[in-house]
Amino acid sequence: MHLTRYEERLLGGEEGESVERAMRLLVTLGEVFGAERLVEVKSAHVSGVSYLNLGEAGLDFLKEQAEAGAKTRIRATLNPAGMDLQRWKDQAIPQSFAEKQLQVIAAFERMGVEATCTCTPYLVGNEPRLGEQIAWAESSAISYSNSVLGARTNRETGPTTLASAVVGRAAFYGYRLAENRLPTAVVEVEASPCSRLEFSALGYVIGAQVGNGVPFIRGVTAPSLEDLKALGAAAATSGGVALYHVESVTPESRSLAPLDLKSLERFTIDRGILEETISKLSVEAEKPITCLGCPHCSLREIEEAARLLEGKRLKGRLWVFTSRGVYADAERRGLVNLIERAGGKVFRDTCMVVAPVEEMGITEVSTNSCKAAQYLANRGVKVALGDANSLLKEATK
Ligand code: F3S
Repeated sequence: MHLTRYEERLLGGEEGESVERAMRLLVTLGEVFGAERLVEVKSAHVSGVSYLNLGEAGLDFLKEQAEAGAKTRIRATLNPAGMDLQRWKDQAIPQSFAEKQLQVIAAFERMGVEATCTCTPYLVGNEPRLGEQIAWAESSAISYSNSVLGARTNRETGPTTLASAVVGRAAFYGYRLAENRLPTAVVEVEASPCSRLEFSALGYVIGAQVGNGVPFIRGVTAPSLEDLKALGAAAATSGGVALYHVESVTPESRSLAPLDLKSLERFTIDRGILEETISKLSVEAEKPITCLGCPHCSLREIEEAARLLEGKRLKGRLWVFTSRGVYADAERRGLVNLIERAGGKVFRDTCMVVAPVEEMGITEVSTNSCKAAQYLANRGVKVALGDANSLLKEATK
């Protein structure tokens, strides 16, 4: 692989052991995937934050990196942790878990990673531009940044994003190259989804059909930011979709010639398939905690929930998950207060999937996210799916 003089110096250890180690990881990765060179990246989004997934070995690795003086050279944000870093007692998180989780965050902060603790960094200021090279992990954030923002990242992992944050480079292959961003299949949507749950189901069906291909989606009218984040998150769950195009909506869809699509495999999705998918992922739950915010809620989603709950009282538990940045806006506008006055809770920094639900005694959840449904079901939690409006209406009846 061709390296610049500067990169060779980094690899040669002239800027310390942690930089050398980071370079070695990226160069090895590049060699495995046939990259000819590295490329400068503008930002990193680092996953592998919940102590649930990291365990003691992961925590030790992060502490060692911080101790060795690893420091970020570019903007680096952090994915959700296993708990709300302030209100973890309200989530019934065990003290022993909380202590470890706080050590994880401290190690990241020592390295210069911003403790944003969200899977929607693009809603809190880390918003890459069209064509910008970035190194992001977290499948839903990768999908959003590649598809909706037109930035360029591969499906990175915790260690590779941290390495990219430390050296400001990534291996130049995969979705970083224009030729790998072209559609591999056409998806005709016969009836545009009517709720975020249906967008999530649409993404889930697309992911199952195209695997890790690049779908070109037709027939989806005026999707909102929230619809697209739900679609992308689910497509990355049932398949490995890191990039999709929506006709006349996503930026790169506009530059594709119609003829380019003719030779591609085609799928058709009707409302029946969406309903069937939702029903397959859903089971009866007697007393579920209603969880909204997979991916993390935007301000608009919090506002929608707050307006539905205004002046009402919840019968069961409602947990809304969002980032600190969005929470601060929602709090200023009185929306957090509306939800909490109704008996709900708005948590930051975490979500139901990366929290230690087993230790928290959670056995039943209702949600509007196919991604959350699949991951929670894999851990033995009973999940009932419904759109946010019906779930909230049901919870306040
Ligand atoms: Fe985000 Fe957790 Fe869902 S990290 S995409 S809210 S599983």
